[in-house]
Amino acid sequence: MLEDRIQQAAEIICSAKRVTAFTGAGISAESGIPPFRGPDGLWSRYDPETLDIQHFQRDPLKSWITIREIFYEKFKAASPNAAHLALADMEAHDHLHCLITQNIDNLHHRAGSSNIIEYHGSSRRLICTYCERLYPVTLEILEYLPPPCTECGHVLKPDFVFFGEPIPFQAHREALLETQRSDIWLIIGTTGEVYPAATLPVEAKAHGKRIIEINISPSNYTSQITDLFLQGTAVSMMSELNKRIHKLDQLHG
Ligand code: APR
Repeated sequence: MLEDRIQQAAEIICSAKRVTAFTGAGISAESGIPPFRGPDGLWSRYDPETLDIQHFQRDPLKSWITIREIFYEKFKAASPNAAHLALADMEAHDHLHCLITQNIDNLHHRAGSSNIIEYHGSSRRLICTYCERLYPVTLEILEYLPPPCTECGHVLKPDFVFFGEPIPFQAHREALLETQRSDIWLIIGTTGEVYPAATLPVEAKAHGKRIIEINISPSNYTSQITDLFLQGTAVSMMSELNKRIHKLDQLHG
């Protein structure tokens, strides 16, 4: 039964030395940000080429018009939901030690998590495609597209990973380290289809780590590496899981 599996997950987490969470677009769905894949996903409405680095280099204005619409207009009102908050609370109570997210929406930061590896970068900064100077995103900077670097005049792009770009070296190195350090990987709301991110939980499993997964439907991981599958929304599963973690903490003083 699901109830028993949630309880089991809480017990595993409470007795673990180190826990890593690995999140994807599904955790932000209940904040009003649609995931990428699936019938209502972003890629059913927009061309994924928008986020292809070669396409961006060929025609930055065209890419930027869609990027601004998706990431800086539509979703700017989104706020962290109970699943983001539960992860921050787990960290505050020493039950979560690292959070690797594929999301670029900044909601984990806003929820109060601090030990975050942003594996695909973040939408809250822009980076110069030539001199790599970083800029915080402001309304003004996005007024005229494509935004230019004030230092060297080259085009700025969001400081997140486009298709065809490598993962930031430091993020990849730290995430790989977690596949060996953490006893438990808590995977939330990802299909496990985008590489190299998708290989991280597989690598953790190969190192003998236990995998707890939350998703509304089975993912690529579920039948392959997941030890405990909690089928449900991120908000409902994380709220219940965290409630039980608190109860166990009270029980054990
Ligand atoms: N609660 C839990 N899981 C959910 C919810 C929800 N409320 N809603 C959707 N999901 C699950 C879906 O079942 C799916 O497995 O979240 C997953 C979302 O999958 P994707 O859209 O593929 O998102 P993600 O796995 O994060 O994509 C990885 O792809 O386009 C790139 O760079 C982008 O970081 C992104 C990467």
